[in-house]
Amino acid sequence: MKFAVIGGTGLIGSQVVKNLNAAGQEAVPHSQSTGVDVISGQGLEEAVAGADVVVNLTNSPTFDEASPAFFQASMDNLLAAAHKGGVGHFVILSIVGADQVAELDYYRAKVLQEDLLAAGPIPYSIVRATQFMEFIDAVLSWTADGDTVRLPATPIQPIAAKDVAAAVTDVAAGTPLNGMRNIGGPEVFALDELGRITLSHKGDSRTVVTDPTAGMFAVVKGDVLTDKDAHLAPTHYADWLS
Ligand SMILES: NC(=O)c1ccc[n+]([C@@H]2O[C@H](COP(=O)([O-])OP(=O)(O)OC[C@H]3O[C@@H](n4cnc5c(N)ncnc54)[C@H](OP(=O)(O)O)[C@@H]3O)[C@@H](O)[C@H]2O)c1
Repeated sequence: MKFAVIGGTGLIGSQVVKNLNAAGQEAVPHSQSTGVDVISGQGLEEAVAGADVVVNLTNSPTFDEASPAFFQASMDNLLAAAHKGGVGHFVILSIVGADQVAELDYYRAKVLQEDLLAAGPIPYSIVRATQFMEFIDAVLSWTADGDTVRLPATPIQPIAAKDVAAAVTDVAAGTPLNGMRNIGGPEVFALDELGRITLSHKGDSRTVVTDPTAGMFAVVKGDVLTDKDAHLAPTHYADWLS
């Protein structure tokens, strides 16, 4: 089968392209660096022409109030191009519990992306993942100040990007779910504790101060973990750190 992987040069997209091609499929990565822009629409019709499956792994450049406009415009353009091209399966990657955190612009933007896909004309699949292990350093940097990092005790279920890519590859190569699949890492940590484990592993002497008001995850209070029956990814955080 032919796959157009939009955002196929990013953290997850590049691994999905690699996985699909290694499995004997024909996957082509597209992004601004290959001349495709999901916001202006430049190069989109050519990118999806002849594809059986579109996998959209683009991301908004910011997580703030500009993010809903990114997902609205990108999905409008991509759905129109994919429909015109006769694409039979459209896959996106969202966030477990995205609908539980209406306070965050970025989570609202991801729900908007899901809703646009589900309301559109193309059979679809939504993979929802918990927070990527690769994202934890960025989370720590947001509230770092001198010798301290302030973090709330919000529950986090980190998953390795390679496990996310494996799940997206699996779903993309299957029949459309016309629904959602949740995936998460094998362990749940309080974010402040995860920060301590991470700094300690790196020999970083900064102190994590528990602060229920600190950073984007302070408002994440709803159900943002996979349920207990979900299939959990294999990579443990300690092994990933090593
Ligand atoms: N971080 C998490 O913990 C987490 C959890 C669950 C789900 N997700 C979702 O996972 C998805 C993929 O994330 P990621 O970390 O792999 O993203 P990433 O590494 O930032 O990659 C984003 C990709 O999108 C492309 N892109 C950005 N703007 C574009 C545009 N205007 N036109 C065309 N391509 C564009 C980028 O390439 P160019 O810059 O060359 O265009 C790149 O290939 C996101 O949708 C995110 O919401 C993330």
